[in-house]
Amino acid sequence: MIRPVCELQGRTQRMWSVLDPILDRIEKEGTEIVLAEKITQLDDITLSGEKVLFAVCLNDAGINMEYYRLLEGFRKHPDCLEGSVGGIIVDGSSELYTKALARRLAFSANNAGCTFPGRPLVEATGSLGNFHVLSGVRGVEPIEVYRQQVETLVRSLLDFEIPVPDKKMKVLAIHASQRRTSNTMLLWDKVRSGIEHRADIAEISLRDGAVTDCRGCKYEDCLHFGEIGRCFYGGIITERVYPAILESDVLVMICPNYNDAVSANLTAFINRLTALFRVSDFSSKRIYALVVSGYSGGDIVSEQIIGAMNFNKSFILPQRFAMNETANDPLSILSVPDIDERARAFADRMW
Ligand SMILES: Cc1cc2nc3c(=O)[nH]c(=O)nc-3n(C[C@H](O)[C@H](O)[C@H](O)COP(=O)(O)O)c2cc1C
Repeated sequence: MIRPVCELQGRTQRMWSVLDPILDRIEKEGTEIVLAEKITQLDDITLSGEKVLFAVCLNDAGINMEYYRLLEGFRKHPDCLEGSVGGIIVDGSSELYTKALARRLAFSANNAGCTFPGRPLVEATGSLGNFHVLSGVRGVEPIEVYRQQVETLVRSLLDFEIPVPDKKMKVLAIHASQRRTSNTMLLWDKVRSGIEHRADIAEISLRDGAVTDCRGCKYEDCLHFGEIGRCFYGGIITERVYPAILESDVLVMICPNYNDAVSANLTAFINRLTALFRVSDFSSKRIYALVVSGYSGGDIVSEQIIGAMNFNKSFILPQRFAMNETANDPLSILSVPDIDERARAFADRMW
């Protein structure tokens, strides 16, 4: 467990009181737990191939300085988490900062080799208001929901193994780009040629306003539509995307950076997945992303995908899930140094 030390002593008590009894039980059941609170302690600990629980408590300004040292370590030693599997707990003092901090942690740890199972985050906002809905559903206090979620997270982390398909891997690529001129599509073509001899690949284009964004139906209505394999709006999402998602082992999102975000059509795709997600289990499917920015900001786009597809929609985030490149002019991705080698290496990792 990596629990970066929190300078504000009074703030740690809530998270520890939830976590410690659970870890005690798990230790008694035979799991060895090694604790690091300072990054310097990690010098003597091997993280590769281990299950790693990140437990971060934020001070009253939503900061934990040792967390930043942790990010520094991951970025300076990009293999230090090779083959590890991670889970994250963030306990905040206000209603802000917990999710952003968790996404950043997941992105940097993932780049250092850490895989995250679907729904790897338990966050506790200052008021515990984020547990309000579940507290009502389960009829227990928010702090008890917090405990339950941490226990579920720790146990699912310990049990997690990456599923290996027993048949030819099925890959679904989703895009909304112009095939011949888009840098992101050209990058996909390179990755695709590295996997097509060993996978069944389907591609769906969401171009030209074919996708209407989520309408925000009531939970019951959304569930009802999901149960009949539909969504309030029909069209390409229910006719082609839903069946293709259900068939696939791997989803590749082809994401040009548009205003430091996933483009509108792809965002609508994510939102419209909700009805299917309510009635289907995505937790054995893997998500990958190809992100091309004209200038900068690929990390933000990747983190958006982590939040939506791994934290919320339960897809596995395999190690180094995103290929981030910079290219602005049409076709200029083709002259990015070593692009062929890196696209091939990405394809091999996917395999
Ligand atoms: C509407 C729009 C918004 C964009 N916003 C950004 C941005 O915020 N940051 C950036 O680095 N590039 C931005 N770009 C540039 C694209 O990321 C760039 O063209 C890149 O090559 C990927 O796009 P492509 O696959 O369509 O070629 C934007 C492009 C468009 C068309």
